[in-house]
Amino acid sequence: MRALYFASLLLSINVCKSSLSEDFGEIYEEPEEVSVWPQPQKYQASPVTFQLSAYIFQIAHAKGSSAGPSCVLLQNAFRRYIDYIFGYGKKHKKNVKVFDSDLAELQVFITSPDSECDSYPTVKSDESYQLSVDQPTSVLKAPTVWGALRGLETFTQLVFEDKYGVKKINKTDISDFPRFAHRGILLDTSRHYLPLKVILVNLEAMAMNKFNVFHWHIVDDQSFPYMSPTFPDLSQKGAYQPYTHVYTSADVNMVIEFARMHGIRVIAEFDTPGHTQSWGKGQPGLLTPCYSGSTPSGTFGPVNPILNTTYDFMASFFKEISTVFPDAYIHLGGDEVDFSCWKSNPDIQKFMAQQGFGQDYSKLESYYIQRILDIVKATNKGYMVWQEVFDNEVKLNADTLIHVWKEKPQYENEMARVTAAGFHALLSTPWYLNRISYGQDWQGIYRADPQSFNGTAEQKQLVIGGEACLWGEYVDATNLTPRLWPRASAVGERLWSDENVKDVNSAYTRLAKHRCRMLRRGIPAEPLFVGYCRHEYDGL
Ligand SMILES: *[C@@H]1O[C@H](CO)[C@@H](O)[C@H](O)[C@H]1NC(C)=O
Ligand SMILES: *[C@@H]1O[C@H](CO)[C@@H](O)[C@H](O)[C@H]1NC(C)=O
Ligand SMILES: *[C@@H]1O[C@H](CO)[C@@H](O)[C@H](O)[C@H]1NC(C)=O
Repeated sequence: MRALYFASLLLSINVCKSSLSEDFGEIYEEPEEVSVWPQPQKYQASPVTFQLSAYIFQIAHAKGSSAGPSCVLLQNAFRRYIDYIFGYGKKHKKNVKVFDSDLAELQVFITSPDSECDSYPTVKSDESYQLSVDQPTSVLKAPTVWGALRGLETFTQLVFEDKYGVKKINKTDISDFPRFAHRGILLDTSRHYLPLKVILVNLEAMAMNKFNVFHWHIVDDQSFPYMSPTFPDLSQKGAYQPYTHVYTSADVNMVIEFARMHGIRVIAEFDTPGHTQSWGKGQPGLLTPCYSGSTPSGTFGPVNPILNTTYDFMASFFKEISTVFPDAYIHLGGDEVDFSCWKSNPDIQKFMAQQGFGQDYSKLESYYIQRILDIVKATNKGYMVWQEVFDNEVKLNADTLIHVWKEKPQYENEMARVTAAGFHALLSTPWYLNRISYGQDWQGIYRADPQSFNGTAEQKQLVIGGEACLWGEYVDATNLTPRLWPRASAVGERLWSDENVKDVNSAYTRLAKHRCRMLRRGIPAEPLFVGYCRHEYDGL
């Protein structure tokens, strides 16, 4: 019996053994190792090593910098990065008493007259920086605070521990800037409500990976957690729970300010006319009544596009949204409109006939979207839309961002079509990180490139970046962070680093160590494969 038992155990071990050819070897995080993620544009390290003492080393404003101690954004960042270097959170605090410091200071020098300290980052923000690590003073130069934030992140990534736990850094010169201006993460707070803390932790993780856009897919069919001062019934009746599962104005402002402190824009998405079931609960008359034969069936479809009251509501609503969210762009959705309810409704049929739309319901969709675009344009905001809006040939402003997400037609062809029409394009198709599979799926994520389509240099210039999307059907606070990181880090490097940085082998080693660093900073990023970190995450 026993022999049989062992035989079957052996057999099952064989069966269970990983046979994925894509798996690389195990990774151990050794002392003395440096991993910079994403890879800087120009990076020159020398074998000269300096020691850093927690008692001496400081980050400070350089003389002549256009930002000084009154710049709260930088003051906060200095504190945060000192803590990342020496603190490793409360748990891993090391008590290595080193009183010598070869490096006394990192001086931060903001070179342009407007440091932008009190403004919000935009798609045009200059995030470049130059970093020179040398004795006795290192210098970080950046035109604006946004570049300084990116450079501070890089500086702390250069610091390593020797086997005694002493912090060290090599003499290094870095000159860095992003390949793409828009590097985003989409989180979905409708399918599951996400507590504020989870959102804030992910903003921190985004900064560690040099992302600069939080795309907040804030409402959808399932729930409406955004508390609107103008239309309180929307969340009162449309949220999962009206008092606990909502984002108050104070919550929203906190997210926006926390994001700003990390150089991250917040772009809210209010997707219409589809994906709006939750809106209907607090705004009677907004959605289209569906018919079963000649009588209303009691169910509702997309936003009703034929009523003036719809547009009156939308005008007030988007006026509010345009003041709550400071970013120059609002994401208006426009994806996956189901025409069956519109088709069933006799009033809509009549309207279609009057307008001469025939049986082409995408014309009705375009009619609706066109009016929404006019409403939003009147608030002086730009807009982003999902690709269907472009596919349906809605007339769009020249500066509209087309968000490519569909697998069919091939996204490369869609990127080519969008840019050939002169529009800015943003890619998400290969980066739906809510989709998971066994093995190292980060590699496919890493290989995808937003500019890999057949098109002219001018067309390639119109690609402003991409977004990793984490849709919320199977995700809430329990699993969001490990599912997103470090898989999203692969997108982070693709969007920041030079297009020639694409060797998956070298990325694997750096990424595994970068993931260990995220653990040290309290981000529960999941493992890439087998191995260990010097400081394991203990879940507390
Ligand atoms: C840093 O300096 C050490 C000691 O000279 C050297 O072994 C190591 O390769 C250097 N690291 C880098 C990234 O150049
Ligand atoms: C809707 O608005 C249009 C234009 O302002 C107006 O001509 C029309 O009479 C209105 N329809 C209704 C039903 O109020
Ligand atoms: C680009 O065009 C070439 C030649 O027509 C074709 O072989 C290739 O598959 C195309 N690439 C993409 C990404 O569409």
